[in-house]
Amino acid sequence: MVYESQHPLVKHKLTLLRNASTKPKKFRELVREITLLLTYEATADLGVHQVNVETPMGTAVGDELADKIGLIPVLRAGLGMVNGIWEMMPGAEVWHIGLYRDERTLQPVSYYNKLPTAPTVQVCLVLDPMLATGGSAAATIDILKNWGANRIKFVGLLAAPEGIAALQKAHPDVPIHIAKIDERLNDVGFIVPGLGDAGDRQFGTG
Ligand code: PRP
Repeated sequence: MVYESQHPLVKHKLTLLRNASTKPKKFRELVREITLLLTYEATADLGVHQVNVETPMGTAVGDELADKIGLIPVLRAGLGMVNGIWEMMPGAEVWHIGLYRDERTLQPVSYYNKLPTAPTVQVCLVLDPMLATGGSAAATIDILKNWGANRIKFVGLLAAPEGIAALQKAHPDVPIHIAKIDERLNDVGFIVPGLGDAGDRQFGTG
């Protein structure tokens, strides 16, 4: 399933994010804010356990999250998507996956993975702003499935139709939550009209 956000705040903030004159500090703030809004939508089906809570007036029936959540930022650009969610879900674990895209072949190359042998979380949120060819997302989800994770969601900001199709083909069980599906990929594998390089624009390295 593909969920393209219809929320007006997401649309407004994405427009600011795309703007070439938006500087890295503002860009990082927008990545954080849009990610929070998308995660609110992406986590709507999380399970809860019923618990009792003592209020100053008596006992209320409440809920607590049933599953341990893993945040999986794909380095580098996914890093800016972590902190907002982590403030909202401080009990989440963060497991970094390092991948870069070979500029010539556009294939993902893995360079960092410190996952322990056995899975420690029940639900994984893969965080990467850009779903271009879909190769990086599919490779990350391959890694998580080999680890033993079985409930995985992808949360991104912009996608090309080509990336959506590739990820759905490779991992049809993984829902895709995205702010916007753009027109296409250009001949060097960038999303058009897109927002440029999400890593460079966050870290001021463009
Ligand atoms: C970008 C982006 C994704 C990947 C998307 O990362 O953040 O990880 O490319 O492309 P794909 O869907 O075609 O695989 P990049 O390789 O530029 O690395 P960086 O985040 O370290 O800048």
